[in-house]
Amino acid sequence: LRIFSGSANEPLAQEVATYLGLQLGPMVRKRFADGELYVQIQESIRGCDVYLVQPCCHPVNDNLMELLIMIDACRRASARQITAVIPYYSYARADRKTAGRESITAKLVANLVTQAGASRVLAMDLHSAQIQGYFDIPLDHVYGSPVLIQYIASKELSNLVVVSPDVGGVARARAFAKKLNDAPLAIIDKRRHSHNEAEVLNLIGDVKGKTAVMVDDLIDTAGTMLEGSRLLREEGADQVYACATHAVLSGPARERLFSGDFEEVIVSNTIPVPGHEDIEPLTILSVA
Ligand code: R5P
Repeated sequence: LRIFSGSANEPLAQEVATYLGLQLGPMVRKRFADGELYVQIQESIRGCDVYLVQPCCHPVNDNLMELLIMIDACRRASARQITAVIPYYSYARADRKTAGRESITAKLVANLVTQAGASRVLAMDLHSAQIQGYFDIPLDHVYGSPVLIQYIASKELSNLVVVSPDVGGVARARAFAKKLNDAPLAIIDKRRHSHNEAEVLNLIGDVKGKTAVMVDDLIDTAGTMLEGSRLLREEGADQVYACATHAVLSGPARERLFSGDFEEVIVSNTIPVPGHEDIEPLTILSVA
């Protein structure tokens, strides 16, 4: 068994390797003057089971391309089995056509990973569970929730209500609530006017006087969490926690999380968060 890291999140890959009592395999990663990427595995992997750890986070296109090149390099080096470990699977939100003449990028990325030569995929908290079916190779879908739930449970919060910040996340929030002593569930009816712009309309459920824990798969611009927390406060929630597996944190996210009225923002380390010490309410848990 060999484990290699792409450049997206080497600390996570290192933690996984340490957990397994292994060393990360030697690999050269370079960029040519024109921006093209270069990868070379620096030991024989003929006949080996190879694990390539590469979340496809910011810079998304570079990291995705690097993953494809790593897979191709391993295939051409006669690895027996190549597992693409993609803790954060990007391009996942376009998992269906919502308007004419759009691409379904979640399927396109599945095709690219498969065509490059991956034998299997290990992904964490896919944006939607049906993305598993976009692959014709085996895919293990694992969850960050055991780590997140254990942490929340350890805080012994009273009068808890688990909140899904949109209708699409209800199943995820319900599973959380179940594991948190069957906490009640509330649902925010979120609408978007355009991509990356969240507007909150209604709340289904009761949060008055309660500790609300919003649960999502990812925080991107943090608009969803910010608008959600405002609504929950308006509806009388005492405290608001935000909890998500993937800290994408693009654009105004840091500012919003910092200035928002959050008791704590709990995420995992599927994506590195440089300068996370400056985002005051942020707690990062390891899913290694
Ligand atoms: C949406 O379907 C996702 O589950 C997240 O709620 C959303 O992508 C978060 O984006 P943002 O942080 O930009 O509001």
